Amino acid sequence: MRKKVTVVGAGFVGSTTAQRIVDRELADVVLTDVIEGVPAGKALDLLESTPIVGSDVHARGISTASGDYRETAGSDIVVIAAGFPRKPGMSRNDLLQANYDVIKAVVEAIVPHSPGAILIMVTNPLDAMAQAAYRISGFPKERVIGMAGILDSGRMSTFVAQELGVSIDNVHALVLGGHGDTMVPLPRYTTVASIPLPELLPRERIEAINQRTRDGGIEIVNLLRTGGAYYAPSAAVVQMVEAILKDQKKIMPCSVLLEGEYGVRGVFVGVPVKLGARGVDQIIELHLTPDEHAALHASAAAVRELVGVLRL
Ligand code: 2OP
Repeated sequence: MRKKVTVVGAGFVGSTTAQRIVDRELADVVLTDVIEGVPAGKALDLLESTPIVGSDVHARGISTASGDYRETAGSDIVVIAAGFPRKPGMSRNDLLQANYDVIKAVVEAIVPHSPGAILIMVTNPLDAMAQAAYRISGFPKERVIGMAGILDSGRMSTFVAQELGVSIDNVHALVLGGHGDTMVPLPRYTTVASIPLPELLPRERIEAINQRTRDGGIEIVNLLRTGGAYYAPSAAVVQMVEAILKDQKKIMPCSVLLEGEYGVRGVFVGVPVKLGARGVDQIIELHLTPDEHAALHASAAAVRELVGVLRL
């Protein structure tokens, strides 16, 4: 049976996600956007790359301006990357109401056509939008997952490798919490060739890396000026897509609904999860120090405030 992934939003995040899925021959792709022409044009261009890259999958783009999502029917995964991006000076939270309206329309339209799909949320503010998709879809919590921890951990790994002058292959960083200013980089669980980071760097260098990680998204926005990052975000999405489609049971940090884990209840926050064909197979509970625990709770409280505004 062929696999099918719908990517909603043909901007940079959506289109690079579609490209990575096609390049890796993971699934047929339907790329959608409310604008005319662009999704069809990008998908056709992508399809015409398949004989060259040697990838035996289909790509098709549709405009959903009329509200017609029939082409997306039977998707195994729906990646939602639609919405307004950040501009310099904006926080992810500034997008709350506008992107909630976008997400609501998309999820309501997509779900009847793909009732068994797994939703991967990418739109900001990420954790609140994942929670919105969970409530609107009515899907079980295992099938609504936010992408962010892989991206934030990837940024932290990059900065650690730069600081130490070591291969990126040696570095495995871990960032938990919401995808915002309160995210929780965990140096104790960040290793370089299996060596915990605090054994290799003094505290102030680690704190500088933590802060650059927290500011990782806005650093890119300030350089691009017209939108946010997309290469690393799309790579993170596709790591999740691959783990699900291949039932890899890979552990990676994702935003999921916590119901008592880490002492947090009823809110989406980034924690390590095992991803497989069912979506979230397991939430991994780490032992945290009192400071780490408090930071995770502060991050969960920040997400809770946003979802409170949306009355979710
Ligand atoms: C980022 O962190 C856009 O939130 C996204 O780059």
